[in-house]
Amino acid sequence: MAVPAEAPAPQDRITIRPLRASDGVAVDAMHDRCSTASRRMRYFSAKPRLSPRVFERFLDRSRGTTLVVEGAPGEVVALGHMMRVAGPGAAELALLVEDGLQGRGLGRALAERMLDLGREQGLRELHASVLHDNTRIRRLLTSLGGRTSRTEDPSVLEIVIELREPASG
Ligand SMILES: CC(C)(COP(=O)(O)OP(=O)(O)OC[C@H]1O[C@@H](n2cnc3c(N)ncnc32)[C@H](O)[C@@H]1OP(=O)(O)O)[C@@H](O)C(=O)NCCC(=O)NCCS
Repeated sequence: MAVPAEAPAPQDRITIRPLRASDGVAVDAMHDRCSTASRRMRYFSAKPRLSPRVFERFLDRSRGTTLVVEGAPGEVVALGHMMRVAGPGAAELALLVEDGLQGRGLGRALAERMLDLGREQGLRELHASVLHDNTRIRRLLTSLGGRTSRTEDPSVLEIVIELREPASG
């Protein structure tokens, strides 16, 4: 699976890079800085932190890709996942930006990086399960080409983004 190189994001002093085993404390600290509402939007529960088992899964590159946005060196301010749980050629997309930095373009920059990476990895589509009242992620993923459909749970929508090669020329 292609592994992303470290690269500066559009925002000053911010780097998007793969999750490392040494990020555990920083990822916990980021969750501590997130509101219950944000954690509910991401995990559909107020999950205060990632369990060690889930953290290990996010590190396992055979199961998907997790990118972190680093603020200050060693500080994690956002997480993006593309986990291969949705069938061949597909992955589940999920994002979490800490509250104090939301609404400043970080989620968009991270999502765009994940889509590029998904194309590099040969994925055909990304799926995201989002809460119906999560206007922000719905708008973001729709603007990236996502198509929304209902699920059996009226509070949950599924957004599918098809990954096509960008048109050349
Ligand atoms: C959803 C989330 C990842 C978006 O990241 P962000 O950094 O806050 O969003 P951005 O600043 O990049 O904005 C992205 C888009 O969201 C929309 N948006 C931003 N602020 C918004 C607001 N207050 N209300 C509605 N839509 C908004 C806009 O369409 C924006 O696009 P634009 O740049 O063209 O204006 C982030 O808010 C978050 O982590 N929320 C909690 C967890 C969550 O909901 N995760 C998604 C589950 S998969």
